[in-house]
Amino acid sequence: MNRNVEKWTINRACIFIVLIFLCANTGRCLREGEDGKIDSPVPIVLWHGMGDSCCFSFSLGKIQEILQNEIPGVYINSIRIGDNVIEDVENSYFGNINEQIQRVCEQLSQDTRLQNGYNAVGFSQGAQFLRAVAQRCPDPPMLNLISLGGQHQGVFGIPKCSDTSRLCNYMRRMLHLGAYLWYIQESLVQAAYWHDPLKEDEYRKKNIFLADINNENTISAEYKDNLQKLRTLVLVKFENDTMVEPTESEWFGFYKPGQTKEIQKLQQSELYQQDWLGLRAMEVAGKLHYLSLPGDHLQFTATWFVENIIKKYLV
Ligand SMILES: *[C@@H]1O[C@H](CO)[C@@H](O)[C@H](O)[C@H]1NC(C)=O
Repeated sequence: MNRNVEKWTINRACIFIVLIFLCANTGRCLREGEDGKIDSPVPIVLWHGMGDSCCFSFSLGKIQEILQNEIPGVYINSIRIGDNVIEDVENSYFGNINEQIQRVCEQLSQDTRLQNGYNAVGFSQGAQFLRAVAQRCPDPPMLNLISLGGQHQGVFGIPKCSDTSRLCNYMRRMLHLGAYLWYIQESLVQAAYWHDPLKEDEYRKKNIFLADINNENTISAEYKDNLQKLRTLVLVKFENDTMVEPTESEWFGFYKPGQTKEIQKLQQSELYQQDWLGLRAMEVAGKLHYLSLPGDHLQFTATWFVENIIKKYLV
């Protein structure tokens, strides 16, 4: 071995050992719990929204930075579907969402740093997908789920696209073709939470994702039990949301069946009254938190996020 390289390697090893020593002795790298046991902050899993990726510096990268400033040493797993950010963006439009969720479940179960549980923060469609993770894959356990503008009763209105987004405009054309065609259900992520109140029967029969996680065809006791394992389910609604139709879907409300004008709140729905999913039980137990703020889709300030989400649920 070249002598310089050898020296460098030894130096590196020394630095590494010194760091371990410092951490072990001062506890500065880990927080000490009340019982004297060293415990690190609860890890956080993020799932981004449509057209976004795990890691753009202006979106989830920024969120990650805020979290790390507020919770020193926190471990964050920001979900990426695909081998790079480009694939991650594409997969937020195209693919079979049930397969994507299965892949995420595998990733999370293999992430040893999550094994004692984690908090989850979902952005827009990422919120309903993380709810599916909680219901389908209880191991490792999700502790709190924060849904920021999630569409828990789906959408009936084609999301806006910027003129330049080729993928988004293609998605709109596919939804026009017929959201409940099987090949569109299985290849277009947004079709999987397309909820047509004029075709409730067709929705229940043909939708491959939302009707399933909302226990609308058969009641899965497993889904119901697993969802109730959450300490809290925090539903954040953006009052002036122009992306999500109807906005009430962010609080589990939707159009009354058979028409597209009148909104029914979660509490007026069969889902709640028959308690197919355990949401009523969660509400009674004080586990369902409803937050709202003025503004359009996902428009919040760092201060709002720190005060209302991080300090209340994530530290
Ligand atoms: C935003 O939504 C709230 C609640 O629906 C409404 O009272 C308010 O007028 C809206 N603001 C704007 C600017 O549209």
